[in-house]
Amino acid sequence: MNKVTEINSREIRKAVFPVAGLGTRFLPATKAQPKEMLPIVDKPLIQYAVEEAYAAGIRHMIFVTGRNKRAIEDHFDTAYELEHELEAGHKDELLALVRSMTPSDMDCSYVRQPRSLGLGHAVLCAQPLVGDEPFAVLLADDLMCGPDGGKPVLTQMVDVFRRIPTSLIAVQEVPADHVRRYGIVAGEKAGDRITRVNQMVEKPNAQDAPSRMGVAGRYILTPGVFEHIRNNPRGAGGEIQLTDGIAKLMATEGVHAYEYEGKRYDCGSKQGFLEATVELALRHHEVGPGFQQYLKAFAR
Ligand code: G1P
Repeated sequence: MNKVTEINSREIRKAVFPVAGLGTRFLPATKAQPKEMLPIVDKPLIQYAVEEAYAAGIRHMIFVTGRNKRAIEDHFDTAYELEHELEAGHKDELLALVRSMTPSDMDCSYVRQPRSLGLGHAVLCAQPLVGDEPFAVLLADDLMCGPDGGKPVLTQMVDVFRRIPTSLIAVQEVPADHVRRYGIVAGEKAGDRITRVNQMVEKPNAQDAPSRMGVAGRYILTPGVFEHIRNNPRGAGGEIQLTDGIAKLMATEGVHAYEYEGKRYDCGSKQGFLEATVELALRHHEVGPGFQQYLKAFAR
């Protein structure tokens, strides 16, 4: 293997963000705005995910968008009028904040998913931009926080991928009555926090689930997955499932699951969204102390 191929096969340079979903669980808030633009404290969900990818060394962000998603493109574009106003008003801190969102070494690309055919189909739409190299997939409605003082979840996964360059899925044990909400994996232990996956099913019934290891919305995938997604029949919910494509990949390449360190907030659900809001508000440098006092007084 020559050096360039070796670097490319272990380096994750691109991240795919499937953001074409309708967000029906958050109607009416999502009638005219993307669910990924809903803020936790002061930052939209999609920005948390993009920052996580950037922190993991990824510089090319690929958004798979749909109708009504222009706000996401605008969010990661230069806002000339806003910057001009902030500059004229000498609001330097805010200006730096707005500019820091799109570092000069970060590229954003957008591709449309013309029909809502499922997560697997959304990832397939990114194939022309990903090409023939491993890539990350981040589902923005899973907000992932690394452990206090530790590495963000995708950075942990990129580290694992350098050692074990196969597709890697972030998992965490979920309660039995939650297995229906997630992809579920099972397999053989292959190291600290690592399982070699031999079963993967999308949203099984609790009694059919091979384990309680639930898939969180972070993946590192090898490009071989595209062919399997393309050849997939529709799966659970009549959709082209990413889970089914990865399950097929197990026959030809290894697939591993990684029990990440940290916490996931399922912001696709109202409960998870509220938990994230409260916990991140408590940690927020500006509002944290005041909000803590408020909650204490409220709980009395
Ligand atoms: C998707 C995946 C599922 C995974 C989940 C994580 O489901 O299909 O396997 O467990 O994300 O959030 P969705 O939440 O889009 O229904």
